[in-house]
Amino acid sequence: MRRAPLIGWCVLAIATAPVSRAANDDASSGRRIFVHGGAGGEITATFAGSSTLLPARLRRCAGCHEADGLGGREGGVAIPPITWRALTAPREASSALPGRPAYDEAALNRALGEGIDSAGRLFAQGMPRFRLMPAQAAALVDYLRILGTERDLDPGVATDEIRVGAVLPLSGPAAAWGQAMRGGLENALAAAGTIYGRRLRLVAADAGDDAAGALRSLVASDRVFALVGTMLPANIEQIEQAEDVPVIGPLRPTAEHIAPNVFYLLAPLEDQMRVLVDQLAAETAHPLRLTIVGPYGSVADAVADQAQRRGASVVQRIAADDLATLLPPAVTEPPDAIVVVPGVDFGRIVAGLADWPGSWLLAGPAEAVAPERATDERLRLVFPIWPADPRGRDTSTAPAMPPTAIAATAVLVEGLKRMGARASRAGLIAAIETLHDFPTGVLPLLNFGRGLHIGSFASAVIRPDRSRGMMMLGGWRTRR
Ligand code: HEC
Repeated sequence: MRRAPLIGWCVLAIATAPVSRAANDDASSGRRIFVHGGAGGEITATFAGSSTLLPARLRRCAGCHEADGLGGREGGVAIPPITWRALTAPREASSALPGRPAYDEAALNRALGEGIDSAGRLFAQGMPRFRLMPAQAAALVDYLRILGTERDLDPGVATDEIRVGAVLPLSGPAAAWGQAMRGGLENALAAAGTIYGRRLRLVAADAGDDAAGALRSLVASDRVFALVGTMLPANIEQIEQAEDVPVIGPLRPTAEHIAPNVFYLLAPLEDQMRVLVDQLAAETAHPLRLTIVGPYGSVADAVADQAQRRGASVVQRIAADDLATLLPPAVTEPPDAIVVVPGVDFGRIVAGLADWPGSWLLAGPAEAVAPERATDERLRLVFPIWPADPRGRDTSTAPAMPPTAIAATAVLVEGLKRMGARASRAGLIAAIETLHDFPTGVLPLLNFGRGLHIGSFASAVIRPDRSRGMMMLGGWRTRR
């Protein structure tokens, strides 16, 4: 329970600023063109016979020729391999593609700019014409030379090190929490030791007053392979070049729309609140009479829906955060339980609880309540993370790290081990998708899969007990 307020930062939401970034001509610009179609307007491309500039997704070499450059078939069109080995060898004619001599650098530049292959044949419609500055063309060719070889290391990967990033509030009002999170991540990464000869190192960036900007420059600098336990803007896809960076355990509530590179560890808020309603219904002998406090929206709607499923009646739905408006004399009869939805100052309501006698229950998210205030036995708190000390006893054994740091690092480390020696972002994402019933010690067992990027839907309900401290009511559970 001591750690409850730490995950309060889960609900940090970050506004995304409009995307703008000057292209920088660092060594990675060839890879950037190959994987992302360049940053912003760094390069332009058109299809033959058209002057319409192609969007990045149609400029990305990797989009058609695949991330490993081996090509394949797309809608009946043969897409040739463009690894250095394939390009510098002559090709025999086949039913799919005509023969051609080996490419040299000049022939390759002509292929990219004019759409003519090494035999002087005009390409089929599918291959765009690229307008590249000489330095960009040289960087791209340099990247093609190493594409798919052992030297083709994803950003943040060196032979003896993998760097992972986190954007955290290292200054400002939340600095103490941000520093604790940084320390936790550093310790957990160090404790993992070496994986395939590589040590794990944290690159932490201060969110300052522009977390989205901090994330953007961290990713654009190509210094990190993945992000763990990090602040994240609502829509990571809006951050250029971030769409292939694995993100494990973002510090925000589980989103409705989930990007294919983001892995959530905690149960969505709606599921947590439904578990809370299940608990309240189970504790009441007659059909539950419920008051819902909080802004109208998906979470409050989920509470009302779950109440209905459990045969409860919602006697009042209100946005107020004041017990005086919810209890007699303001209403004739007190409800059996009051559920407070995230978005309301639940901590303030709990602080004033002692002034209100009665046997009704007050329920809400644990993260909003300061642990020293959570003493009233009428409280029911829902928790997606194992409290450090469920029964308020031996605090000396409580881990010194924020649970989210422990869990996010555990998932990263397991993913890196399963991925094998060749470190690639796509490989890490695929490896994490193989985690089933994975224990982190602080979260319910996690399960991921292809298209399943929410690791857990379970939460726990706890209540204060005068003699025994905090009591867990029935372990991890998912909504009924
Ligand atoms: C929208 C899909 C698409 C994109 C994007 C694309 N290509 Fe291609 N590319 C093709 C197709 C289709 C062909 C085969 C054309 C043909 O042979 O008639 C091709 C052929 C080539 C060839 C000729 C290979 C050979 O053996 O003759 C090279 C080289 C090449 N692409 C490089 C690139 C590079 C580098 C990029 C990124 C800067 C890129 N392509 C982006 C579809 C694409």
